[in-house]
Amino acid sequence: MDFIDLPPLLSARGTLRLPGSKSISNRVLLLAALAEGETEVRDLLESDDTAHMLKALLALGVEVASLGDGAYRVRGSGGVFPVREADLFLGNAGTAFRSLTAVLALSSGHYKLSGVARMHERPIGDLVDALRQVGADIRYAGNEGFPPLEICPAKGNGKLAHGTVVSVRGDVSSQFLTGLLMALPLTGVETTVEVVGELISRPYIEITLASMARFGVQVRREGVQRFTVPTGCTYRSPGVVYVEGDASSASYFLALGAIGGGPLRVEGVGRDSIQGDVRFADALARMGARIEMGPNWIEASAPHSGKLHGIELDCRQIPDAAMTLATTALFAEGPTTLTHIASWRVKETDRIAAMASELRKLGAEVEEGVDFIRVTPPHTALLTPECGIDTYEDHRIAMCFSLATLATTLRINDPGCVTKTFPGYFESFARVTQAVPVIAIDGPSASGKGTVAARVAAALGWHYLDSGALYRLTALAARRAGVAWDDEARVAAIASRLDVEFGENSIRLSGTEAGEAIRQEEISSGASQVAALPAVRAALLFRQRVFRQAPGLVADGRDMASLVFPDAQTKVFLTASVEVRAQRRYKQLIEKGITASILPLLLDLRERDERDSQRSVAPLQQNKEAELLDTTDLTIEQAVAQVLVWSSKVS
Ligand code: DC
Repeated sequence: MDFIDLPPLLSARGTLRLPGSKSISNRVLLLAALAEGETEVRDLLESDDTAHMLKALLALGVEVASLGDGAYRVRGSGGVFPVREADLFLGNAGTAFRSLTAVLALSSGHYKLSGVARMHERPIGDLVDALRQVGADIRYAGNEGFPPLEICPAKGNGKLAHGTVVSVRGDVSSQFLTGLLMALPLTGVETTVEVVGELISRPYIEITLASMARFGVQVRREGVQRFTVPTGCTYRSPGVVYVEGDASSASYFLALGAIGGGPLRVEGVGRDSIQGDVRFADALARMGARIEMGPNWIEASAPHSGKLHGIELDCRQIPDAAMTLATTALFAEGPTTLTHIASWRVKETDRIAAMASELRKLGAEVEEGVDFIRVTPPHTALLTPECGIDTYEDHRIAMCFSLATLATTLRINDPGCVTKTFPGYFESFARVTQAVPVIAIDGPSASGKGTVAARVAAALGWHYLDSGALYRLTALAARRAGVAWDDEARVAAIASRLDVEFGENSIRLSGTEAGEAIRQEEISSGASQVAALPAVRAALLFRQRVFRQAPGLVADGRDMASLVFPDAQTKVFLTASVEVRAQRRYKQLIEKGITASILPLLLDLRERDERDSQRSVAPLQQNKEAELLDTTDLTIEQAVAQVLVWSSKVS
C-alpha cells in the first residue's frame, strides 16, 4: 500500500491489549535458544524484527515450533548452535543484529551477517572492538565500522583468562553493551565489562539484565559503569516466559488518550514493567495529562482544563517513546523541548531530521540540534499536507504522526513500515478512536441527492461535500485550459492543482464564480467523461477526504460509500426512475429560464447512467451496506426525514 488516509478524530477512548515488547521478545528468543532445556515463550511479538530473529535461529539449527496465538516452543542448544556455517539476513532489526553478532563471535563457526541498506549505515564498530578484546575474529565485509560482517571462529576458541576486562563504548547505542552482556556467559569464565563514556538508553540495559536473570544468569553490577558475569554461568530455561506488552507501542495510545479525551487504557504494561518506556506516562503527566497505573495497565485522559502544555525533558530514560512527545507537542500550549536524543540519529533513519521535516509540513515551528528538538505548535489549525507524511521506513514515524488526526485528515505514506514492531497498528488505532462521522449519499444524476444531502447537512449543522462539483470543475478547468477531456494525464494534473473555494452559495474556480458554468449540460457531459479516468479520480481522492471535518460531513456522489468514505456511518443509495429524474431536471431548467425539452434530457440521462455505471473505475452501483432510498414517489422533505432517521440510528 502506497499510503493510508486516516480520518480526523472526534475523540479517543477505550481499552487495548498491547502486542508483545520487541525488546523483550528478541532477547528472550535468543536466550531460550542458548539455554539448556525447553522454553515456552508466550505473547511473543509477531513482527518483522522478531521474524528476523526467529528465521536466524532456525538457520542456526535451533528447533523452534509455533504453538499458535503468539506462543512458541524453543529447544535450547545449551550454548552451542548446531549449524556452524550460515548466512544470516537480518533486515533492519538492530536488536537481532547486535546481539547475534556478539553471540556468534564467541562461538566457533563461520557466519555472515547482513541487512537492508539502512542497517549497513548503522554503526557497529564499538561492539566489534569490544568483542575483539575477548578474541573474536570479525571482519567488515563492507565499510569499516558497519555491517555487513563476516565472523570467523574466535581465537583460542573463545577461551579467556579468568577476570578478563572488556571495555565498550556506551554513548552510541546501548545495544552494544546488551549484545556483549548476553554473549559473555558463553566464555565460561568471570568477565567484566567496563562502559566507556556515558551509557545512553539505560532502561534497555535493565531489560537485558532482567531477561538474563530470568534464564539464571545474575550479573553483578556497579552502577551503570561496570558489569561482571561470574564464572560458570550458563543459561537455563525457566520453563514458561510471558513477554510483557510493548511499552514503546503503548506511548501512542497513551498520548491519544491525553489529547483526545480518554480514558484510554493499555493492558500489558504497568507499574511492574521492566521496560523503561513506561516512564513515558510520567512525561505525559508533566504535560498535564491524567494518568492512572495498575500493575499491568496504564490509563491516560486529557487534563481537566482540556489542554496539555509544553515541557522541556531530558529523554535519556525514554529514548523511543520520546518520539511520541514530539507529535504530542502539536497539541500543547507553548513549545516542547526534547534533549539528549542524539541516539535518534542512528536509528531506522535520522529520526531528528525526519521528525523535524514532517512536523514542519503540519505547520509546526521546529528547531533541531545535534541532540535536541524543539517543537512549537502552529498558532492556528494544523495544516493538511496533500503530499502526505513521509515515514522513512521507520515504524515509529508512522505511528507518531497518526496522532495528528486528532486535528486533521492525514495521509501517511508507506504505512506498511509499522509491521517492524506493530503489524495491526492502524486497526488497533481505529478501535480506540472515534472518527468524525460521515453520511454518504450516492446515486445517479438528477436523482435529487444533492438537494437532499445539502438539507441533511443543514439540519445537522454538518459540512457538505458535493463531489460531483469537483468533477464538473475539473471538466470546466480543462476546457478553459484547452485540454481535451480524454487526455488523462493532463486532466489529472489539472484536477490535482484545482484552485477552488466552496462558499455558502458560491463555488469559485481560480477566483471567479463558477457555480452556474459547471451546471451547463455540456460541462455535465464533460464531467462524466473526466470522471471515467482513473488518474483523475486518484487526483481528487484526498481532496474529497479533507472535507471531513468536525462535527460531521454529508457527502454526495457516486463512490462516497464505496471508495472515498468506506467507513461512513450511514450509507444511502438515492435514486428515482429515469423518467422522474428527467422531469425534475426539466423543471429546474425551466425555472432558471433556460429553454429545454424532456426527450433529449431523458436520452442524455440514460447515456450518462450508462457511462457512470459501465466505467471500469468506481462504477455507479449501490454499495452493499447502503440503504436504498427510491424517491420516485417521495417529496424532498420525506427523503431528508428518512436519511435523518437512518443516521440517528447509528449515532
Ligand atoms: O453528481 P453530478 O451530476 O454533479 O456529477 C457530475 C459527474 O461526475 C457525473 O457524470 C458523475 C461524476 N461523479 C463521479 O463519478 N463520482 C462522484 N463521486 C461524483 C460525480
